[in-house]
Amino acid sequence: MESLAGGALKDLLQASGTFQPAVIEDIQAKAASGLYRIRGWGTLRERRWATFDDLTFLPCSLTRIPLEGYREKCSTKTVLGKRFARKPIELDIPVMITGMSWGALSYNAKVALARGARTAGSSNTTGDGGMLMAERENSRTLIYEVLPSRYGINIHHMRMADAIELTIGQGAKPGTGGLLLGSKVSDVIAKQRDLPVGVDQRSPARHPDFLGPDDMIIKVEELREATDWQVPIFIKMGASRVFDDVKLAAKAGADVIVVDGMEGGTGASPAILQEHTGIPTLAAVCEARAALEDIGLYGEVQLIIAGGIRDGVDAAKAIALGADAVYIGTAALIALNCNRPLYVEDYQQLGTEPHHCHHCHTGRCPVGITTQDPELMKRLDMDEGAERVANLLRAMTLEIQMLARACGKSDIHHLEPEDMAALSMEASAICGIPLAGTRKVFGR
Ligand SMILES: Cc1cc2nc3c(=O)[nH]c(=O)nc-3n(C[C@H](O)[C@H](O)[C@H](O)COP(=O)(O)O)c2cc1C
Ligand code: SF4
Repeated sequence: MESLAGGALKDLLQASGTFQPAVIEDIQAKAASGLYRIRGWGTLRERRWATFDDLTFLPCSLTRIPLEGYREKCSTKTVLGKRFARKPIELDIPVMITGMSWGALSYNAKVALARGARTAGSSNTTGDGGMLMAERENSRTLIYEVLPSRYGINIHHMRMADAIELTIGQGAKPGTGGLLLGSKVSDVIAKQRDLPVGVDQRSPARHPDFLGPDDMIIKVEELREATDWQVPIFIKMGASRVFDDVKLAAKAGADVIVVDGMEGGTGASPAILQEHTGIPTLAAVCEARAALEDIGLYGEVQLIIAGGIRDGVDAAKAIALGADAVYIGTAALIALNCNRPLYVEDYQQLGTEPHHCHHCHTGRCPVGITTQDPELMKRLDMDEGAERVANLLRAMTLEIQMLARACGKSDIHHLEPEDMAALSMEASAICGIPLAGTRKVFGR
């Protein structure tokens, strides 16, 4: 009788595997508003797929000799844009700050990121909405994004940049345009973008001046002429049909190709695009390398990988799989105090808690990063933020070097797939790396 009652109670509390509590909440929110859901950050990754965690390094033992950490050099110098640009960019480290718009981010955040990247010998990137002059003044190496929206685009600013990034798409929302909700379209942002104050802004998905890869070649030439063939041209894409898209970008004349995986962050995106479009970053880097090898341009066109890169381990694995450098966005915002338990009551007002916040789209960021509210913005101290970003970039670089030395490499760019084993059959099949404990590459 007792066990029957217990069983009945268990049945009563059993959530449906199909209509789980989060699904019920989602349906009811849509039923109340008639709108799809929008949020910041990247995928919440509620399903499993193969990631960099599915790989492990194989440091030296007897078959290879490791390097001494304190005595033997391990270079981290990273050169990008060697193909056609007269002035390729030279960075001290392979971890770069990705493009995040002034609009999605506050003035203080943009300046702190620029100063932090400069201190660490790295680069930072503009974003949708154009360049902030303070960003240029505080950057060592600035990459200027050219996006479909053309918001804030300015040829004089473009000519002040060290590289141009023609953005086709982003990992968080491939196939769609940018999104900036009205709460962030302040007077200043509206003026910069030539738009009405307080109105939601949906940027176009396609560049107005080219339709596809054939006439994109003309666009790349135009950007080269505008910058006198001096600086590298990057082409950035969301990871979708990477094998073909990378070849088309290389054919269009890119010096550097940026592939942003499914885990990529955003200031605001429809949630379904974050969860159900694009391919994961691990798969993207493998496809991108294979594409460049297929057309004989691996090594000549450099590859930057983005999307969910958290630390030097992820970065080292991306490099070992074929990337020349990685971009970080969300990790850099976390360094600036995103999700830190400060102003906890403000997180609660947004309906969230520190460590669970992904509410960048609201414009009410409790720590002053993704907001245009002058009072909230003041909470982000630019000098302190810059120091934290520089520290993160340094720590990540030390982690990459540590792994490279343990694998016997005097240059982090000498890391290779053979330095790793796969921990799952999926990763083995995706990366072409034997599964640990076997000599088998699955799927081959
Ligand atoms: C707050 C925020 C704003 C962003 N704004 C832009 C943008 O203006 N243009 C762009 O190409 N990508 C933008 N992105 C995407 C990043 O450039 C990058 O592709 C992505 O953040 C990489 O993933 P990660 O955040 O996991 O490192 C933004 C990302 C974030 C987090
Ligand atoms: S703390 Fe700010 S930057 Fe971080 S997720 Fe929340 S709103 Fe976005």
